[in-house]
Amino acid sequence: MGRIMSVALPLVALSVASICYGMADAAAAKPPSTYLKWHYYKTTNTCHDAEEYVRHEVKLFWDSDKSITAKLLRLVYSDCFVTGCDASILLDEGPNPEKNAPQNRGLEGFVAIDKIKYVLESRCPGKVSCADILHLATRDAVHLAGGPAYPVLTGRKDGKISDAASVDLPSPSISLQSVLEYFKSRNLNEVHMTTLLGAHTMGRTHCSYIVDRLYNYSGSGKPDPSMSATLLESLRKLCPPRKKGQPDPLVYLNPESGSNYKFTDSYYRRILSHEAVLGVDQQLLNGNDTKQITEEFAVGFEDFRRSFAESMYQMGNFKVLTGNQGEIRKNCRYTNK
Ligand SMILES: *[C@@H]1O[C@H](CO)[C@@H](O)[C@H](O)[C@H]1NC(C)=O
Ligand SMILES: *[C@@H]1O[C@H](CO)[C@@H](O)[C@H](O)[C@H]1NC(C)=O
Repeated sequence: MGRIMSVALPLVALSVASICYGMADAAAAKPPSTYLKWHYYKTTNTCHDAEEYVRHEVKLFWDSDKSITAKLLRLVYSDCFVTGCDASILLDEGPNPEKNAPQNRGLEGFVAIDKIKYVLESRCPGKVSCADILHLATRDAVHLAGGPAYPVLTGRKDGKISDAASVDLPSPSISLQSVLEYFKSRNLNEVHMTTLLGAHTMGRTHCSYIVDRLYNYSGSGKPDPSMSATLLESLRKLCPPRKKGQPDPLVYLNPESGSNYKFTDSYYRRILSHEAVLGVDQQLLNGNDTKQITEEFAVGFEDFRRSFAESMYQMGNFKVLTGNQGEIRKNCRYTNK
């Protein structure tokens, strides 16, 4: 527990967090008395070196392709926000699994999870859940990219149901108020939200998610006035007006880190200079709290790193299955027969 508190507490030291939320929030960030544990597989002696195996495999993926961090981050959000952190996003079975939902188009990282699961099944058959693998692997990939090494509690079980109809992930052009409400319904406050959106410091998005900002913002026939002219010009080149059936290119969410896939705080400075690619990111300036947090992270990389650790930890506790509520899948793509 000592290690966990040492991560939960520094958020209070964040000036913005303590102004807005104070101690009550730090208390809320503690494990909601689930059965999750620090080093579950070691302390229960079910797979002593599980975390080392995961770290080793993630390093191999990272060495050959740095985009693994962005892929795993997106995967873990897509999993936790929809029906909780139960690895339902990994399932291939069922008439229409979550991964088939339009919001999950372009999700990647499944192959990495399969490989890690394969290694763990050969070392400790039937012991390590896919839900835990997803969280541990993401943590290790974030750390390799320059992010914090946050604590991941373990002992999650895997869910048995995955249905695209339950996928309600917000669109990238949703209003600030709606996205706040969406995060609140997942026990995440303004600080968590502003922090987790910072994962857009890496990764890519399809042009179709930003063409409204480039050509016809809110049906005005004009571009989004909150986008800088320089960014507008460069994005219009990458994302020309397109008709149905034409290709939908990918652009970097943060052209500054681009293909480096580095975990940096440049995302927040870009928002301040009106250079966010996604509308949802640029809108952080529209809320008093979210603006203040953005300003703080733009000059305080350590604050951002600490808050990221705290926010990933908080997100990873959302609606987890423990004990007999779920199973440990043998193959992350299929429930056990
Ligand atoms: C912009 O969007 C509005 C509303 O969807 C639409 O009526 C209008 O034709 C569009 N304008 C252009 C130039 O595409
Ligand atoms: C933001 O701050 C301004 C100026 O202090 C105030 O007028 C406004 O009501 C605040 N908005 C919100 C949503 O709190």
